[in-house]
Amino acid sequence: MANEIIDQLENHRSVRQFTDQPLTKLEVAQLISAAQHASTSTFSQQYSIISVTDPKQKAILGEISGHHWLEKSGHFLLMVVDQYRNLQIAKNEGIPADVLGTTDKFLAGVMDAAIATENIMVAAESLGLGGTIMGSILNDSKRVIDTFNLPELTFPLLGIALGHPAVTPGLKPRMPEAMMHFEGGYKLPADFSTQLNGYDAALNAYYQSRNSNARPESFTHHIVQGLSRDPKLRAELKGVIAGQGFLAD
Ligand SMILES: Cc1cc2nc3c(=O)[nH]c(=O)nc-3n(C[C@H](O)[C@H](O)[C@H](O)COP(=O)(O)O)c2cc1C
Repeated sequence: MANEIIDQLENHRSVRQFTDQPLTKLEVAQLISAAQHASTSTFSQQYSIISVTDPKQKAILGEISGHHWLEKSGHFLLMVVDQYRNLQIAKNEGIPADVLGTTDKFLAGVMDAAIATENIMVAAESLGLGGTIMGSILNDSKRVIDTFNLPELTFPLLGIALGHPAVTPGLKPRMPEAMMHFEGGYKLPADFSTQLNGYDAALNAYYQSRNSNARPESFTHHIVQGLSRDPKLRAELKGVIAGQGFLAD
């Protein structure tokens, strides 16, 4: 049966080229509201959002991520894991808040920020906008922390580059459901290799046929290439997260 929401979800594609038209204040407000209405762990709302409008700050994020196209986005949001706000509440009430630095609380903030991120992406697409979620800001998380004056018990998890799409990228085929949806327990399909070969071929056909950056590519190669990256890249992450006061248990 036709379902507009599912149709939209199944038509998601990351957009990395934008027109010069910025988002309106109303559009930004609608996206923030959509984020705020997402579920949050224990209703503790453990994330904050920073609108990045200063071209200099955008340029820094462009440098960090290596994705300078984000500087041309119509609006850029930084999604921040945030236990600092709840620390202030605890302090006001005169209660100890050591628990806010635990792995559990860090994960709760990560989940809240990530779920809100997807709400923003879905809401943006419903408004005819497009965008890309950006983990590459983590290439130098310390510099992001310094640039945006992020206090203790916060961490910059993701960026979201948003705008009016200048292109309509192709739809990237996902892996067969049998490779990722099991019943009653973890069980890769008996014909895993065959399924993977089929997916490699489907993804290769997509990459070869796309308008920009057409090239041979398979899921297998994509995963192997990702695993062959410099192991030193982001090796400092654990220390930076701990430096913000998390993972303290
Ligand atoms: C957590 C996360 C981090 C991502 N980081 C980046 C990024 O830094 N740069 C980028 O170009 N795309 C990034 N993406 C977008 C993915 O590359 C994209 O979703 C994936 O290739 C599937 O393509 P599609 O979104 O067009 O379907 C990220 C997506 C997620 C969920």
